[in-house]
Amino acid sequence: MAFRPGLAVALALVTSCYLSATPSSSAASDGCFIQCLRENIPSELIFTPGSSKSNFTGVLESTIRNSRFLANTTVRPICIVTVTDASHVQAAVRCGRTNGVHLRARSGGHDYEGLSYRSVRPETFAVVDLANLRTITIVTTADEPPTAWVDSGATVGELYYTVANKSSNNTLAFPAGVCTTLGVGGHFSGGGIGSMMRKHGLSVDNVVDAKLVDANGELLDRAAMGEDLFWAIRGGGGESFGIIVSWKVRLVRVPPKVTVFHITRTLEQGAVDVLTNWQHVAPTMPDDINMEVLVQGAPQGQQQQVAVFFQFLYLGTCDDILPTIVSCLPELNATKADCNEMTWLESTAFMNFGDTNTTQLLDRSTGPNFFKNKSDYVRRGIARSVWLEILTKWLAMNGSGIIILEPHGGFVGSVPTGATPYSHRSGVLYNIQYVASWSAGDDSSVAIDWVDSFYDFMGQYVTKSPREAYVNFRDLDIGQNTVVNDVSTFDSGKVWGEKYFGSNFERLATVKGKVDPTDYFRNEQSIPPLLQS
Ligand SMILES: Cc1cc2nc3c(=O)[nH]c(=O)nc-3n(C[C@H](O)[C@H](O)[C@H](O)COP(=O)(O)OP(=O)(O)OC[C@H]3O[C@@H](n4cnc5c(N)ncnc54)[C@H](O)[C@@H]3O)c2cc1C
Ligand SMILES: *[C@@H]1O[C@H](CO)[C@@H](O)[C@H](O)[C@H]1NC(C)=O
Ligand SMILES: *[C@@H]1O[C@H](CO)[C@@H](O)[C@H](O)[C@H]1NC(C)=O
Ligand SMILES: *[C@@H]1O[C@H](CO)[C@@H](O)[C@H](O)[C@H]1NC(C)=O
Ligand SMILES: *[C@@H]1O[C@H](CO)[C@@H](O)[C@H](O)[C@H]1NC(C)=O
Ligand SMILES: *[C@@H]1O[C@H](CO)[C@@H](O)[C@H](O)[C@H]1NC(C)=O
Ligand SMILES: *[C@@H]1O[C@H](CO)[C@@H](O)[C@H](O)[C@H]1NC(C)=O
Ligand SMILES: *[C@@H]1O[C@H](CO)[C@@H](O)[C@H](O)[C@H]1NC(C)=O
Ligand SMILES: *[C@@H]1O[C@H](CO)[C@@H](O)[C@H](O)[C@H]1NC(C)=O
Repeated sequence: MAFRPGLAVALALVTSCYLSATPSSSAASDGCFIQCLRENIPSELIFTPGSSKSNFTGVLESTIRNSRFLANTTVRPICIVTVTDASHVQAAVRCGRTNGVHLRARSGGHDYEGLSYRSVRPETFAVVDLANLRTITIVTTADEPPTAWVDSGATVGELYYTVANKSSNNTLAFPAGVCTTLGVGGHFSGGGIGSMMRKHGLSVDNVVDAKLVDANGELLDRAAMGEDLFWAIRGGGGESFGIIVSWKVRLVRVPPKVTVFHITRTLEQGAVDVLTNWQHVAPTMPDDINMEVLVQGAPQGQQQQVAVFFQFLYLGTCDDILPTIVSCLPELNATKADCNEMTWLESTAFMNFGDTNTTQLLDRSTGPNFFKNKSDYVRRGIARSVWLEILTKWLAMNGSGIIILEPHGGFVGSVPTGATPYSHRSGVLYNIQYVASWSAGDDSSVAIDWVDSFYDFMGQYVTKSPREAYVNFRDLDIGQNTVVNDVSTFDSGKVWGEKYFGSNFERLATVKGKVDPTDYFRNEQSIPPLLQS
């Protein structure tokens, strides 16, 4: 250990560490934890709130993607470690275990409830921030298409850009989410739905290996972790099983040109009829077309007409698909003028930013974004009269938000329910995401009351027993763990867990019981350990 000022204080802490090696949340063990980190990780990667020289708040807020949680109203970390190597993650886990400090992993910081950097209940924790661990390496073997190792701190935009850049004919791609700043670490952990899922599945359907640091601080690849744990981390939600440092993915081939349709329809233009038919057509179309829908309501205080926005991605040219769209969804009146042909990489920029400037995919900054989201799955089409009520009543209310509908079917629907933790497969027509948002200074209760009451109303039209939800659209309203004797209980987890994972929940809890029986990796919605008696 190099000499530095304060060594005497440090030594005193080291001494006291031997006295308090059993887990507790006392201040003494916090100090020991940080001391332990300093002995194993370069000190410039460790940020604590106390010191004015330490940029703790800047680093903490750097990837708070839901501006609601910029307010310091819930429990914050005692320290942030901005790891740049897997060995730093291992050291953080070992120091945390010894000193009773839990860790929360943060990759891109998009967690809807902010659980990668805040705790709702009083708990001593530190953040392992992976944002700077973000190398992407294309594996050069005879495999076609090739594979790549992607570190968890990479964004999906960086992944898209890097992968496409490696193919001379613009045909290499990867299926993942639309928002380009999503962190690979959290996004893959929850499944990863996106505009190519009907053709190529979820992100996790294309993960072939991973490197994970477990609750003992061991770095394990697929062979070392075994197939049960490898199954669990491909969609069982972030945080529960360890910290995934890197993922090996199978890339996919796309045609040199793809087509994006952008079409907006109002009520007067027949939006209700289009939507009513869309819900049967979109999940049964050829799997190389994804027909996403976004319904824009009337934001608080704005006089805005309800508009239905259709964003289709077709992996091919306009001429190849237009006749099929016209014959299957005649109410839409799609024409060639609605087509935008471009490379697949350009389409990932276009669907986010409205233009094809692909440099934006590398931009990690995001604007202020205050929101509360909820999600549902639909397995039986909703009647026209209900769509009429949704558009003319619910989305016309002052303060209403957006709903986003993403069709399933195709590849994503054909994977057996138990093949990965993502249980929303066969029979799902589409998922719904309800987005309530507001601006700084607005009364958030108007938007939140809207989303809560609309979600209640929708209960009769969506899946029931359980009412399914998507773990990556995290919603603490559907249930939170209870901790008894320092372990999250199975029964409390089952309440929300069966909504996210259906019949896969119990298997996830069994894996957790084997790999982390003392519940070291946890948050308010982590998989509880099911211990075999
Ligand atoms: C604007 C926006 C758009 C979105 N669009 C989509 C979309 O198109 N498709 C979709 O599927 N989802 C989408 N999501 C949801 C997104 O997939 C999840 O929020 C996802 O968990 C984000 O991952 P992250 O690394 O950015 O988040 P983080 O907040 O860093 O992490 C999320 C969770 O995973 C845990 N975690 C993070 N990194 C690791 C790791 N390396 N190892 C273990 N656990 C980890 C965290 O502790 C936390 O519990 C969107 C979210 C937002 C805010
Ligand atoms: C603090 O951290 C943030 C996020 O990493 C960075 O943008 C900012 O420049 C840092 N400030 C200082 C003073 O180092
Ligand atoms: C958050 O609030 C707590 C308690 O009020 C305070 O001790 C802490 O310093 C605050 N943290 C930040 C980052 O502002
Ligand atoms: C890849 O990126 C480099 C550097 O940004 C650029 O010069 C090159 O044209 C790109 N190649 C392709 C095939 O897009
Ligand atoms: C693009 O190049 C790859 C690798 O050389 C090849 O396998 C693929 O068929 C090509 N695609 C097209 C459409 O030319
Ligand atoms: C769609 O086309 C039909 C038949 O051509 C026409 O009657 C209808 O008005 C059109 N709707 C829109 C929204 O353009
Ligand atoms: C919408 O609600 C807000 C807050 O309740 C109110 O200030 C505003 O006047 C309302 N706007 C309209 C158009 O009704
Ligand atoms: C493309 O986007 C980048 C990053 O946002 C920006 O710096 C650049 O000016 C843009 N280029 C053009 C031609 O608009
Ligand atoms: C809700 O979802 C929308 C669309 O994906 C997104 O823009 C917004 O940031 C989300 N809200 C939260 C709190 O993540």
